[in-house]
Amino acid sequence: MTKKLRLVVMASGRGSNFSAIADAIREGALDAEIAALVCDRPKAPVIDKAMACGNMDIAVLTRKGFASRADYDMALADLVFGYDPDVIALAGFMRVLGPEFVGRFPGRIINIHPALLPSFPGLDAQRQALEYGVKVTGCTVHFVDEGTDTGPIILQEAVPVLDEDDEESLSARILEKEHKLYVKALRLISEGKVRMEGRRTLTEDKGL
Ligand code: GAR
Repeated sequence: MTKKLRLVVMASGRGSNFSAIADAIREGALDAEIAALVCDRPKAPVIDKAMACGNMDIAVLTRKGFASRADYDMALADLVFGYDPDVIALAGFMRVLGPEFVGRFPGRIINIHPALLPSFPGLDAQRQALEYGVKVTGCTVHFVDEGTDTGPIILQEAVPVLDEDDEESLSARILEKEHKLYVKALRLISEGKVRMEGRRTLTEDKGL
């Protein structure tokens, strides 16, 4: 059963994953609408990308002015709740969301991470992979729980690490996969093909 997904995308920076999702919707490859982009940085390039789309709300809420992280997370959750999203897609949202946020949307927040989790969680995942010396890394779409990049995995895609790679070349190779993987995960969710069983996520995955 396919359901048109109502999305809130949360992002902090460049916004290439945001664009991949918006493009897939525009091209009819994903049955969804982005109700709002929610951003924590007023000058993030993703804001211009959302403005260019022209068909969604753009909300900026910075941490400044909130006494604690919990207060900020609560305000953020109120803001997102107002859009009544089916799914909240974190697309380069560079903050760890605490229980005040995550607890409000059980099973409805997903994230993309530029490594094969549980390897290399947190910041600078591509640099971590290079420094560790792995020969294969990749990207992961996963449900968000209260840990840092610890929630149940929906999809993963591997890419090779080449001898001549630096952080930039490796990040670019991973990013290309991220854009496809994120759209694919959202499509599987919209088609009702993603089911969580404890830590495991079962998907009826019939290819891209
Ligand atoms: C992406 O590589 C995404 O996987 C990463 O930030 C980048 C955002 O790029 N996210 C994380 O590292 C989260 N821990 P984008 O703004 O061009 O989509």
